[in-house]
Amino acid sequence: MSDKLWGGRFSEDTDTLVEKFNASIDVDKRLYASDIEGSMAHLKMMARQQIIAKDEADTLLAGLERVRIRIENNEVSFSDSLEDIHMHVEDALGQECGDLAKKLHTGRSRNDQVALDIRIFLKNETRQIMDRITGFQNALVNLAKAHPDVIMPGYTHMQRAQPVLFAHHLMAYYEMLKRDKERFADAYKRMDAMPLGTAALAGTTYPVDREFTRQILGFARLCENSMDAVSDRDFIMEFISHAGICMIHLSRLSEELILWSSSEFGYITISDAFTTGSSIMPQKKNPDVAELVRGKTGRVVGNLMAIFTTMKSLPMAYNKDMQEDKEPLFDTVDTLSICLEVYTRMFPHITVHADRMKTACARGFLNATDFADYLVNKGMPFRQAHAVAGKAVALAISEKKELDDLSLAQFKDLSDRVTEDVYDFIRLDQVVARRISAGGTGVDNVRAAVEKAQKELNS
Ligand code: ARG
Repeated sequence: MSDKLWGGRFSEDTDTLVEKFNASIDVDKRLYASDIEGSMAHLKMMARQQIIAKDEADTLLAGLERVRIRIENNEVSFSDSLEDIHMHVEDALGQECGDLAKKLHTGRSRNDQVALDIRIFLKNETRQIMDRITGFQNALVNLAKAHPDVIMPGYTHMQRAQPVLFAHHLMAYYEMLKRDKERFADAYKRMDAMPLGTAALAGTTYPVDREFTRQILGFARLCENSMDAVSDRDFIMEFISHAGICMIHLSRLSEELILWSSSEFGYITISDAFTTGSSIMPQKKNPDVAELVRGKTGRVVGNLMAIFTTMKSLPMAYNKDMQEDKEPLFDTVDTLSICLEVYTRMFPHITVHADRMKTACARGFLNATDFADYLVNKGMPFRQAHAVAGKAVALAISEKKELDDLSLAQFKDLSDRVTEDVYDFIRLDQVVARRISAGGTGVDNVRAAVEKAQKELNS
């Protein structure tokens, strides 16, 4: 007989390469605390239901506590022959409690066990990620608040479009992250269902009280269908999807930070502590942190494809393919966490060059829309005003000027509605100040948005 925990029906030992291939301990050892927490709840429930004796459960509970401490002190050696964290914990419990440990797995399968462990782990991580998002939102809002009236070019198609407040631009990312947090909160609701007690796939013959186990473990409800309970990995796919969207937001921001810190833009400087140099070019100061956040987005999107592809076509119920769920999940948790943390630390070390942003606003006809609006105010229909303003731009380009540099006579040639007040109307600060529509870049709106955000973050 094979010496495996499951070895009863086997007459040959497992091939050594298969042992290595089959093992997941290198990855799933990270679930040890969740695994022990789940086993403890299972024991308490079994004692209450008289599936095992109370004193036996107490001995095993104390043993599991010692196993936890031994794992934390690196006193449990991990080996491929014991496959995964579940077998290692059970084996270590055997070293603590002898044959009594063999009662732990009554009425339970590794299938419901692993489903439980991941849910316990991910609930905890999801809460932490939501806190990290809040931390980074605070950093964004602080930077916005520190520069309430800095004006920069707003872009569409990466062409200068209309001036906006730098704070308004930053607050756009606040909104994205707010939605990210909402998505994680929503995903949390679905991962908050308890699978233990569904056993291998069909439920168990023992009189388990799943409701009692649920209460001990602090889950909101039970997984309702035993087959779904052991084979559902939606909550992982959902988590990685939301993480992917969040990373894409960080990646878009990264791209902007990289552009803004280039000599061509010169809008910001990222401090030395958050940049790196070149081994050959002495002058270089590279925005590696932003580039890495952008780059790591690819990993998370890749993780999403990995879990999707693993789950695609899997029949009911548990299949070993699912063991492949943990690497992409853990990598996603780690990647998103460190990206949020590193940006939270970096943002207070960004210097904003208001002068460069303002200079950039002076070129590229960012006030052309406002000249059209000026004509509308003077009674011209918008389409016609758009055409006249377009002609004004063409004239200015041909004379290598901006709109503000055209003479009143030139303006009047384009439309006799123009009078001296046009120059005030198309001035940069006026252009921004007039955008008072809800959600626009007007100074009052942006100040209110920052204040609202601060309230939301402190609530
Ligand atoms: N290591 C396995 C996994 O992560 C645990 C479940 C194994 N179940 C089984 N029937 N072999 O999926």
